[in-house]
Parts: sequence; structure tokens; C-alpha cells
Amino acid sequence: MKYKRILLKLSGEALMGDKGFGIDQKRLMEYANEIKSAYNKGCQIAIVIGGGNIFRGIQAEKGGMDRVHGDYMGMLATVINSMAIQSALEGLGVQTRLQSAIKMEQICEPFIRRKAVRHLEKGRVVIFGAGTGNPYFTTDTAATLRAIEIEASVILKGTRVDGIYTADPEKDRTATKYNTIKFEEVYEKGLEVMDLTAFTLCKENKLPIIVFDMNKQGNLLSLIEGEKVGTLVEV
Ligand code: GTP
Repeated sequence: MKYKRILLKLSGEALMGDKGFGIDQKRLMEYANEIKSAYNKGCQIAIVIGGGNIFRGIQAEKGGMDRVHGDYMGMLATVINSMAIQSALEGLGVQTRLQSAIKMEQICEPFIRRKAVRHLEKGRVVIFGAGTGNPYFTTDTAATLRAIEIEASVILKGTRVDGIYTADPEKDRTATKYNTIKFEEVYEKGLEVMDLTAFTLCKENKLPIIVFDMNKQGNLLSLIEGEKVGTLVEV
């Protein structure tokens, strides 16, 4: 196994599946099964999931809502998605612990780094909810921060595209995919991998990022076993 401890970042929108809103149970179970197959190999897995399928702070701001208020609502949305993933994984017999950056002790544990690491060592999938607990930060930044804190070897960004392209492949037919790319080149070419706060945090802490297609069955397992899937961003 190439990666002993990973941070898997999933987007909230992906959980919608073909629905326009909320959580598609079929997609949720597909993801849980993918995670379980990596877990069965003994990989230590932490997960951060977005909340865009339920609420997006930035869009609410466009509609006139206070940005900070909207961001907190978005953080709560990530907790709902985290609970859904937790329940799906436990239904498959995978042990999990959910930790939230905003205290809600009736529902989950508070985020405590050392406890999270112990959970991972004991073979529990750890899900981090409520982003960083602060407005103005994305869940990509939360994922990066947690990955660094728990000393994950890599951050795996599961998306619906199979990597980073020279241009948007949905708009430009000549776009080609990178197998690997340097952090510097992503800046120079203005490619969108993560928001710049998250991306810079990865670069400064030498945390590699792999962007891959989470909707393709077997990809996650292949990745942790060291196969070249998606695009690797490295120092
Ligand atoms: P070990 O100490 O390694 O055995 O970990 P553990 O998580 O099994 O121990 P603990 O007794 O802390 O937790 C037992 C259960 O309670 C787990 O399912 C935890 O997720 C849950 N739990 C622990 N702390 C909290 C909390 O503050 N709030 C909520 N809602 N659940 C908690």
C-alpha cells in the first residue's frame, strides 16, 4: 500500500447524484463502498465533505444574506453530510468517529487532533465536520488543514473529472490531462485545483494533492495501492 494515511475530500454536490438537491442514497452507498474497500486494505482514512448540496454560503451572500451567517449555515450543512457518510459506513460495518469543528456534543465529538489520530490508529474512519469552524474558509481549506494536522501522506480530492487539464475539457476539446504537475506550474498557468488559500497551505507544507474521479468504481483503492490515477500535484 502506497499511502498509509489519507485525507479524502469529497464535494457535497457529488452526494446529490442525479438529484437537484440533498443526498442521493444510491450515490452515498457507492461512496461508502469505495471507502470501505480502501479501509479493508488497512489504509487509515480521514474524510472531509463539503455542504454545497444543501447550502452554499457564497450564493446566499449574492441573494443578500450576510456572508458570515451564510458560511456558518454552510458549515452546518457539512455536518449533515458527514452524518450521512458516517451512517452509510457504519451500515457496512466500518467503524467511524465524527468530529466537529463547532461543538455539538449531542451529535458528535469535538475536534481534538490527538484523539483523531488515536481513532485512526485504532482503525476508525474519522470524519471531520463543520469545516474549520470559521467563516471565509472553504472545505478544501478545512481538508488541507486537517490533513496537515493528522500528518496524512496525501490529500485525495475526489471530483467528477479524472484530473487536472490544460484547459476546461468540457469547453476545450484540445485540452489534455496532466499525470503530474508541480505546484508552481499550477500557479503560473492559473489552473483551478483548489482555492488559493487551500492550495498554498498544501504547497507550504509539502502536502501532495491527487485530483481524481471519485465516481469511477475502484479508483480510490487503485490510488492507495500506488497506481497512477488522476493528477498528482507535487512540490
Ligand atoms: P477510545 O477512547 O479510543 O476507546 O475511543 P472511543 O471513541 O471509543 O471512546 P469514547 O468513550 O470517547 O467514545 C465512545 C463513543 O462516544 C464513540 O462513538 C464516540 O464517537 C462517542 N463520543 C465521544 N465523545 C463524544 C461527544 O462529545 N459527543 C458525542 N455525541 N459523542 C461522543
